[in-house]
Amino acid sequence: MVIIITGASHTGKTLLAQRMLEKYRYPYLSVDHLKMGLIRSGNTALTPYDDEALTGYLWPIVCGMIKTATENRQDLIVEGCYVPFDWRGSFPEEYLPHIRFICLAFTEGYIDAHFEEIRAHACAIEARLFVDDLTKEGVKAENRRYLEGFSQRGENVVMIDSPAFYTGGTAALWERLSSDPADPAEEEADPLIEDARRYIERLFMNDRGGHDAAHSLRVYRNAMEIASGEPGCDKSIAALAALLHDADDHKLFSTENNYNARAFLTEHGIEGGEAERIVDAINSVSFSRNRGRTPGTIEGRVVQDADRLDAIGAVGIARTFAYGGGHGRSIEGSVEHFYDKLLLLKDLMNTDAAKTLAESRHAFMEAFLEELAFETGISGKSL
Ligand code: NI
Repeated sequence: MVIIITGASHTGKTLLAQRMLEKYRYPYLSVDHLKMGLIRSGNTALTPYDDEALTGYLWPIVCGMIKTATENRQDLIVEGCYVPFDWRGSFPEEYLPHIRFICLAFTEGYIDAHFEEIRAHACAIEARLFVDDLTKEGVKAENRRYLEGFSQRGENVVMIDSPAFYTGGTAALWERLSSDPADPAEEEADPLIEDARRYIERLFMNDRGGHDAAHSLRVYRNAMEIASGEPGCDKSIAALAALLHDADDHKLFSTENNYNARAFLTEHGIEGGEAERIVDAINSVSFSRNRGRTPGTIEGRVVQDADRLDAIGAVGIARTFAYGGGHGRSIEGSVEHFYDKLLLLKDLMNTDAAKTLAESRHAFMEAFLEELAFETGISGKSL
């Protein structure tokens, strides 16, 4: 996820970016640093005061950096002025779900009540030559320009009307930014879960065969849903086991003793008994290795159910044919897989929540196979 933080001068863009860096560990890029680097290195004849021309000069560079971060699935906060009102037009459609935007502006009331503080602050951080020119009307006009320019385009403008904004922390803002339904894959705000998500995205970077990072994220969501109905289940164990359950899948990796999963846990200070419980839950997920065996822990049972749920229903059908196509398997061959495995899963669910969720998914697969047989004559049963 890339977060663009822009807004009027002295509204606290840098402070907000810094807080997010500390709390959520997203690195940030200061457009001001980029600007000064370009100016001081003599790469441009523009000066810090050529505001308009600087937007035209800097934005294409910043935009290129955001595109690169998005393609590499790297998280980044971009903070500064010089973001055009129509910034969305600079990106192809498919990049936009990965970019969040926020603009900060003061209300007129805040400027009236706190003008001296804004002035003193401007002086302290920038030693601006024209700080003496800073007038209440000028500050109001600048803030109005941001508010109107961005809100007319339906952008998210956060109005600052009290100093409490700066002491209240960033959690609520983060919540708003990260719960945008435009990109459900980005909804987690827990830093450990975020890290695990990034870790598996890197691991599965080149795999699209159905065992990708998106699968692990769906298993994680299924696990959290199932765990809600299981009071004895330690959600933090189940969450990490779900996210990391394919990190050492033998079809994709030739690691031993859950090397990839353990590397992540060790790096995050999760060791000893807790790490073993997570690895144990991961190892109880595999269908082929555990045929007929019920995991010994509730976390293992929850994650196994969560993984099996993602193998059935509409998503199961999609994954089966995606995997089959990727491995040169015919449609008939993929249909066989339903009878060998997928249609058996419903009766193997461990938890009540998963049994209920599996019912409708199972019925959908049966209806699909019936329709496929009707349209094409392809039927696993007859082979
Ligand atoms: Ni899996």
